[in-house]
Amino acid sequence: MTATQSPAWQNLQNLTDSLTQQPLKSLLNDEQRAQRLQHQLAGMLFDFSKQWVDGPVMDGLAALAEDRKVMSQAKAMLAGEAINRSENRAVLHSTLRNGAPAAGKEIQTQVNQTLGRMFKLQADISSGAWRGYTGKVITDIVHIGIGGSHLGPELVVNALVDHKTNHLRIHFVANIDAAELTRTLAVCQPETTLFIIASKSFGTLETQVNAKSARSWFLERTGSLAGIAKHFVAITTNLSAASEFGLDEANLFPLWDWVGGRFSLWSAVGMPILMSIGKHGFEAFLAGAQEVDQHFSSTPTATNIPLLSALLATWNYNFLGARSLAVLAYDERLKLLPDYLQQLEMESNGKSVNHEGATLDYDTMPVLWGGTGTKGQHAYHQMLHQGTHQFAADFIIVAQDQHNYPEHHNWLLANALGQSQAMAIGHTPAQDEPYKAVAGNHSTTTIVLDTLAPRQLGGLLATYEHKVFCQGAIWDINSFDQWGVELGKRLAEPIYEQLAAHRGQGAMQDLATQHLLDHLKNRK
Ligand code: F6P
Repeated sequence: MTATQSPAWQNLQNLTDSLTQQPLKSLLNDEQRAQRLQHQLAGMLFDFSKQWVDGPVMDGLAALAEDRKVMSQAKAMLAGEAINRSENRAVLHSTLRNGAPAAGKEIQTQVNQTLGRMFKLQADISSGAWRGYTGKVITDIVHIGIGGSHLGPELVVNALVDHKTNHLRIHFVANIDAAELTRTLAVCQPETTLFIIASKSFGTLETQVNAKSARSWFLERTGSLAGIAKHFVAITTNLSAASEFGLDEANLFPLWDWVGGRFSLWSAVGMPILMSIGKHGFEAFLAGAQEVDQHFSSTPTATNIPLLSALLATWNYNFLGARSLAVLAYDERLKLLPDYLQQLEMESNGKSVNHEGATLDYDTMPVLWGGTGTKGQHAYHQMLHQGTHQFAADFIIVAQDQHNYPEHHNWLLANALGQSQAMAIGHTPAQDEPYKAVAGNHSTTTIVLDTLAPRQLGGLLATYEHKVFCQGAIWDINSFDQWGVELGKRLAEPIYEQLAAHRGQGAMQDLATQHLLDHLKNRK
């Protein structure tokens, strides 16, 4: 039975009309609402009370979770079944934080051994026991990787800047555009720089090209092939390709095929996080995620935060027609959260066939986008308040003022709450001022972190991970593959050949691309 054929889906369809007769504003003053729709976990409050739902809708969503067997699918995932069927792989990122005990001891042992090696490297680098090839201490870490091998680590290093434990400067190079690499290398010295090459496959074009250029930069300036061992480490499942690249075996940190790229920041891919916040910080980050794993696997639907997040997101998208999900982070340190979530959610759930390969008869995955408040209020919030599209939003706010500027912080919080209030209740102006009308009736979730610390951030990201899983289960799609990314990669190859070799007309598959290519060849 497809999702839309299930009785629970059809029931929700029927409930849409009665719900939308009641403006969201009229639902907010029910005393019990907060009690039912606010939940605490891992130093955070998840406030779903500004979602456009009522009791029958919440019951209907719980029935949908039951119908779609979401939690029995979760059990299969956490036990290590190969739920990523198109690649025949298990999905066990929770074991990276000791959050899937049913997966067995063997995997946990591998994880702990690698973690031990990571802690040693971090301790040696930050204490100066590990030095560059001329004996100088390492001052700069350059992390080279893209997608899942980049977005999480950069987000967390930035977000936890106040938890930095040492002198290390950490840089990220992801784009194949040499602007990133040259800008980074311009402020680094080869004798004091450690490169981390993170690539699950060790075959990703961007990472390969950046890593090769970084190695050439190092060799041209030092002439020391032996020095590579002191200045390059790698994280990959493809240990042989990394060795062929010239990396010392002792400097290779394993990944496993049961860790999806976009779920890998808890593994050695998170090395820059560890380098920045140290062992205790990294352990607290993993522990925050583990709290969420435990909550997710053992909490009934009515209070299960990741599951509720997925159900409400499905309600907003498939039933209320919210075409996009705005992630509005009211904290500059979380500036990269929307970028990270774009990969986590859209690469996971931007799919149009089900597990059997049949084309879906319903939509999946709203466009996820966002930015930081209050800057967004002076840019795109106009459209949110008065545009023609329905949307949903997640507000992320931090309760404690970690900068000691109470006036700023109180205004920041006041704006966040004011915005979600406006999105919920809207505004009905005087009759002669129709241009001032604000429709309201936009569902939002407010997530309040007590403080922006490793535990809370680990918990927040794990919550989104499990939300992604639940939504994939509801939609009956494989959230763990990404075949759509392959076609563009393949098509770039013959184009590159023509550009690099300055050859004449090649066999482009379409004339539009051919004309652009000819133009570029003339203008380069
Ligand atoms: O964008 C496609 C993708 O395969 C992502 O899923 C992955 O995180 C990224 O490329 C990088 O892959 P790798 O870690 O193998 O270099």
